[in-house]
Amino acid sequence: MPTRRSLLGLFALSGTAGAFATPSFAGLLRASFVDDQSAPLRAIAAQRGIVYGSAVGSYELRDPEFAASLAREAGILVAEYEMKRGVIEEVRGRYDFSGIDTLMAFAQAHGMAFRAHTLVWHHRNPGWLDAAVLAERDPALQTGYIDAVMRHCKGRIKSWDVVNEAISPEDGRSDNLRNTLWLQAFGPGYIDAAFHAARAADPTAQLVYNDWGCENSGDKHDRFRAATLDFLERALARGVPIDGLGLQGHLQAFGPPIDQKKLRDFLSKVQQMGLKILITEHDVDDSGGPSDIATRDQAVANASRRFLEVVLDNSATEAVLTWGLSDRFLKPSGWRETLTGYSPRALPLDADMQRTPMWHAMARVLATG
Ligand code: G3I
Repeated sequence: MPTRRSLLGLFALSGTAGAFATPSFAGLLRASFVDDQSAPLRAIAAQRGIVYGSAVGSYELRDPEFAASLAREAGILVAEYEMKRGVIEEVRGRYDFSGIDTLMAFAQAHGMAFRAHTLVWHHRNPGWLDAAVLAERDPALQTGYIDAVMRHCKGRIKSWDVVNEAISPEDGRSDNLRNTLWLQAFGPGYIDAAFHAARAADPTAQLVYNDWGCENSGDKHDRFRAATLDFLERALARGVPIDGLGLQGHLQAFGPPIDQKKLRDFLSKVQQMGLKILITEHDVDDSGGPSDIATRDQAVANASRRFLEVVLDNSATEAVLTWGLSDRFLKPSGWRETLTGYSPRALPLDADMQRTPMWHAMARVLATG
């Protein structure tokens, strides 16, 4: 009979606990995970069929203490910036995959999955792109890039943020699309073309639409949720091959608390469309409140807990990634923070690789719902 600890290791490695645990056994493990302080988040998540992981930059892997923590806690990785077009195709037609190859090698060496962020965005594009797209208006400038990157990664990446942040009700369009380079050059159909090109490049890949506006409370985010549902319904009705919705999950510890009912209703509608739900960039901004760390940490933990309680209560949710694992690499967001010497505490591990109240909140919600 394997010991619970040996199973912990099995879960941590396999990330497919669902394949190993019978319902009663899962219940036993679930209860025990909450108490076992050695269980990493990847194992706690895996015992309920969720993959947990983190964004990372290859420069962070040069820090051995961080690399060891990442290998322990994460079951999936995503490139924080090295898979953006401004890094991969800085020079037109010349692809530099060195950064993501380093990250994918680390993931493979530690039994982790890998997801891709992002193929089509309006930020972090190479300097030559805007002028070329607007002058030539050649759809291959978008679809050719998608094909080249996905073919390079084929077999190593199963989930892709194909289009990122294409919705912006504030831009005033009737279709609520963001007025980006891609929309100006190719019209709303650029989104359909991107997903069809991705499906053609790797028919086995999970294709995700990723955005940031659906989590928080307030009129702006109510409009964002409505616009996102409308966008998804129309795209799916046109046969656009979208498999999942990525919610970035950037929260504010001292902002308006999320409206759990509105979020739950929104996610239920997404699930009814047959889409998977992924939390792709979760972190909690702890600026703008009291300065003492205990208060900040508790507010961060509460915000994460209230968000994940709702997200994980939806059976379409399959992944939770934080936008970094440790505060060690975070930088103050504004001049005021810099002046006051504020150091962000927004992630599951602090700058000393110690588990924060956010880690414990995530562990408890992942273990017990
Ligand atoms: O390029 C250098 C690299 O050479 C150097 O080794 C490294 C360490 O100093 O820094 C790199 O610099 C910058 C990097 O952040 C450092 O993390 C990149 O130039 C800069 O572009 C990059 O910014 C990223 C930004 O997206 C644009 O890619 C941020 O890390 C990343 O957090 C941010 O993430 C976005 C998501 O993609 C979309 N959702 C919002 C989210 C937060 O803004």
